[in-house]
Amino acid sequence: MKILVLGSGAREHAIITALLREQPRPSVECAPGNAGIAAEVAVVALDPNDPVAVADYAVLNSIELVVIGPEAPLVAGVADALRTRGIAVFGPDRAAAALEGSKTFAKRIMDEAGVPTGRAVRAGSLAETSAALDEFGAPYVVKADGLAAGKGVLVTSDRAAALAHATFWLEHGSVLIEEFLDGQEISLFLLSDGHSVLPLSPAQDYKRALDHDAGPNTGGMGAYSPLPWLDARFGSENEFVDEIIETVALPTIRQLAAEGTPFVGLLYCGLILTDAGIRVIEFNARFGDPETQVVLPRLLTPLSGLLLAAATGTLGTLPRPEFSADVAVTVVVASENYPESPLVGREITGLDAALRVPGVTIAHAATAARGDTIVSTGGRVLSVVAVGASFIEARARAYEALGRVSLEGSHYRTDIAARVA
Ligand code: AMP
Ligand code: GLY
Repeated sequence: MKILVLGSGAREHAIITALLREQPRPSVECAPGNAGIAAEVAVVALDPNDPVAVADYAVLNSIELVVIGPEAPLVAGVADALRTRGIAVFGPDRAAAALEGSKTFAKRIMDEAGVPTGRAVRAGSLAETSAALDEFGAPYVVKADGLAAGKGVLVTSDRAAALAHATFWLEHGSVLIEEFLDGQEISLFLLSDGHSVLPLSPAQDYKRALDHDAGPNTGGMGAYSPLPWLDARFGSENEFVDEIIETVALPTIRQLAAEGTPFVGLLYCGLILTDAGIRVIEFNARFGDPETQVVLPRLLTPLSGLLLAAATGTLGTLPRPEFSADVAVTVVVASENYPESPLVGREITGLDAALRVPGVTIAHAATAARGDTIVSTGGRVLSVVAVGASFIEARARAYEALGRVSLEGSHYRTDIAARVA
């Protein structure tokens, strides 16, 4: 099978690594990729957000499946353009991708489908924001309505800071003020062909920049999978997953299909386990980053068959994907000053030594080759992944590998998966 992956981050690198593990090996290329991806597959200098350019390329090169990594191409209508040209694509059309691209749309779908989520009020002005903050009380949750690259949400007890955040985002549109939800967060990925879903194994993401969940929200600083603590509350991972399929995923997929916007691709359920039950904090329309880096290394079922079945409407004929009993941990290496204003263009050394640690792989997030060296090109630079028989082992391997990597000014969290080890 000839597959084109769109994107340039650690998530796409992890997807490609999973595809290349298969026997027989599919033929994989990536646009635009990064230095780590280019070391493994052909990279194409193609703008992944340009629907016509991507569709032309796919037709001309007999691509049999396009896998869309990030949200921007989805919102730009790249999946629509590919489907129109008869190319199988894993990723929703623009209309269904609004589940991630518009929080107002997502809330309406959840309301119609009866999916449990936090109460929220949309505010179009500072006066409306102020009234909503007082209605909900502290801690305040203020969310930009559109795509905000992980920077749209502020959770704070400081009313002035909440208002300042709203003021900034009101210039770009409206904001959502939401009830504060307290509990463990879970990322659950479900493959969808528009009508049926198949679950992957859950993961937990660390969104804050610093240890002990201090510092600002980021795109994600680390993750682990599976979540052993689910058993105490649900009996087993399978029982938890069954509940999410029945109460969240299927109602959402059915609502979207009924509205004429079937969702084909990855339904990312961002969940919070409150004392009152499960609530959806957000949906994304694509694989999560860095969660993908810990979910896919544990996947035993060939990934390409699952993605193609979703893209071609035949997911309902397949059994649930299987996962290894091994655990996986990933720790993200971030640039100096990430997430505020990352300093980039710095040389990275020690990657080969890090890869010699057993069970370790490195998904490149923002790297480029410059001559014989590899340099950083963005905020999240590397996602160091370690698999092991236990979280103690996987963590030890990940942090051993991290100690061998050098990037001036970089930082990473030291507490990823510490709570389960
Ligand atoms: P989102 O971009 O919606 O995933 O929000 C980013 C992060 O903000 C989430 O992962 C949570 O940690 C936090 N968050 C979002 N909404 C809420 C909420 N209603 N209550 C508490 N924390 C929230
Ligand atoms: N890790 C959070 C996200 O991918 O949105």
